[in-house]
Amino acid sequence: MLTLEGVSKHFGGLTAVREVSLQVRAGDLLGIIGPNGAGKTTLFNVIAGYYRPEAGRVVLEGRNVTGLPPHAISRLGLTRTFQIVKPFGNLSVLENVMIGALSPLPSTRQARAEAERVIAVCGLGLHAHARARALPLALRKRLEVARALATHPRLLLLDEVMAGLNPTELVGMVDLVRRLHADGLTIIVIEHIMAAMMRLAQRIVVLHHGEKIAEGTPQEIASDRRVVDAYLGEDFSLAEA
Ligand SMILES: Nc1ncnc2c1ncn2[C@@H]1O[C@H](COP(=O)(O)OP(=O)(O)O)[C@@H](O)[C@H]1O
Ligand SMILES: [Mg+2]
Repeated sequence: MLTLEGVSKHFGGLTAVREVSLQVRAGDLLGIIGPNGAGKTTLFNVIAGYYRPEAGRVVLEGRNVTGLPPHAISRLGLTRTFQIVKPFGNLSVLENVMIGALSPLPSTRQARAEAERVIAVCGLGLHAHARARALPLALRKRLEVARALATHPRLLLLDEVMAGLNPTELVGMVDLVRRLHADGLTIIVIEHIMAAMMRLAQRIVVLHHGEKIAEGTPQEIASDRRVVDAYLGEDFSLAEA
């Protein structure tokens, strides 16, 4: 469904992503982990069209989409969430999600119906008329997922939607992602917290200093020496996984 071929992205002298190649098949639930600054968000920005890579190609369902703008890529069925959630704070949850739904749907009425459906899926039904800025973090993260879902993606990129959640909220988000995947969505999840990812992903790619240093099942990743070394000094323990 998605293929990255030798993708690199530089910021001045800094190589944020270095020659990363990976494959995502339809139905995958792929995890991308790595310490802070590893290049995870930058990679999403390249995939979703926010940055043009200096080298390499992004191929979505056989089509070279490298350098296409985000709205064009979204129309082709790939949408991301933002690590720093950016809802329109003065608008309600429903209005925020409707904005996402209006891009694939022609009428306000249809967009509203679709937004209501997505809001229910994301467990935001009781908050549909709350202002986005009044929501606590866990619900803002859900709103971010709902906004992305409203664009009707076939491939959804989630950037740290579990960061900052308490254990109960974390279970709720893991459950939501699992349900979306079970309903047929192909998902790439970025997470800094390795423990959550070990329970969620079928396959994990590890980035470190912009490079892919490992790829495998959660079990393979947990016992990979390079991965353990990459995380040394980080606030995390493999035992949690
Ligand atoms: N817009 C930018 N301009 C300059 N440097 C950036 C920019 N975005 C990210 N970086 C740098 O690129 C590296 C990777 O960042 P990022 O992709 O955000 O990592 P991660 O999401 O894995 O924490 C970091 O060193 C970061 O400071
Ligand atoms: Mg990031």
